[in-house]
Amino acid sequence: MKGLVLAGGAGTRLRPLTYTGAKQLVPVANRPVLYYVIDNLVDAGITDIGIVISPETGAEIREALGNGSLFGAKFTFISQEKPKGLAHAVMIARAYLGNDDFVMYLGDNLIGSKIRSAVSDFASKRDVSAFLMLKEVPNPVAFGVAEFNDRGDLIGLAEKPAVPKSNFALVGIYMFRSSIFDAIGRIAPSARGELEITDAITKVIELGGRVDCARIDSWWLDTGKKDDLLLANDTLMDDWLVAENRGTVDQASKISGRVRIEEGARVCGSTVRGPVVIGKNARIIDSHIGPFTAIGDEVTVERSSVEHSVIMTASSIVDIARVEDSLIGKRVCVRPGAARRTSLSLMVGDDCIIELSSD
Ligand code: DAU
Repeated sequence: MKGLVLAGGAGTRLRPLTYTGAKQLVPVANRPVLYYVIDNLVDAGITDIGIVISPETGAEIREALGNGSLFGAKFTFISQEKPKGLAHAVMIARAYLGNDDFVMYLGDNLIGSKIRSAVSDFASKRDVSAFLMLKEVPNPVAFGVAEFNDRGDLIGLAEKPAVPKSNFALVGIYMFRSSIFDAIGRIAPSARGELEITDAITKVIELGGRVDCARIDSWWLDTGKKDDLLLANDTLMDDWLVAENRGTVDQASKISGRVRIEEGARVCGSTVRGPVVIGKNARIIDSHIGPFTAIGDEVTVERSSVEHSVIMTASSIVDIARVEDSLIGKRVCVRPGAARRTSLSLMVGDDCIIELSSD
């Protein structure tokens, strides 16, 4: 079985961060979302993986992933000129996929469970044309939504319907056989101009194909917006963070809870309350960090307090009483200007400089 990871698209919802970077590379607990996607595929024994990329962010994705050897996999990059829909992405990957069965995994979806047993189930049930994962959610209008008949059989899917027919959202992990190409060939673009995979799956059912689905019990996070991303960060650190100190912590600092400190990082005169991850070569001086905070590589925090936030590579926070619930991009500089305030809630893109007023 092959993998097809969708890492193209426009990423409009995470702007401004995605003006300068791919949304699939936004870090959760200091690792790009895409790495967890690949980990899950490789864990299921899927190592031949096609990665759909866009002209805007393709180079960055290639650089972050390499040829696959870092993950024990082999990557084939497939360019999609325009984000014309998930089913369009499958179509352009046709030459790569050939007649193989495949798992399509959206590059911005994170789930708290492994797909291994679902993959081997699908591989063995030859009469099943497609396999979907569903999750009960309070706000199904934001997703593909499943429709069932009175007997509980799946009879169709609707993409972001105004009036959802159930509370079951389609998780961005799908398993297909090559029969999906025929179904995609028979659908037209939707009102938003995209070839929808939900329409193609509904077509498979209309054509008499069997589509199975399973409800996932673990958490599922679509890292589309700032609050989703902070929640993904909390959940991942809560569930998976392994405490380890590979950096330096001086005598005057106090570390409590699960804290991961990477090589070259220095913590001086500071309190760190886990779960927290501190990236390579970061400097935490006379500050308070955490809980639920990811400090990226090369970040400096000095005489500041940072809680429940994600601070990306090479940013600095200096002399700020309190930063919380914030998502800060790369190379951002936050420092006092003319006036002081006690609390900040920020969503700032890469390369910004924020000059705050002081008292
Ligand atoms: O997250 C689950 C949801 O993902 C499903 O419930 C929906 O049925 C499904 O359509 C999808 O909805 P989104 O609106 O979240 O899709 P988005 O446009 O964000 O694209 C998902 C991923 O696929 C993202 O990593 C970008 C990539 N993509 C998207 C399009 C439209 C491509 O690589 N090419 C594309 O043409």
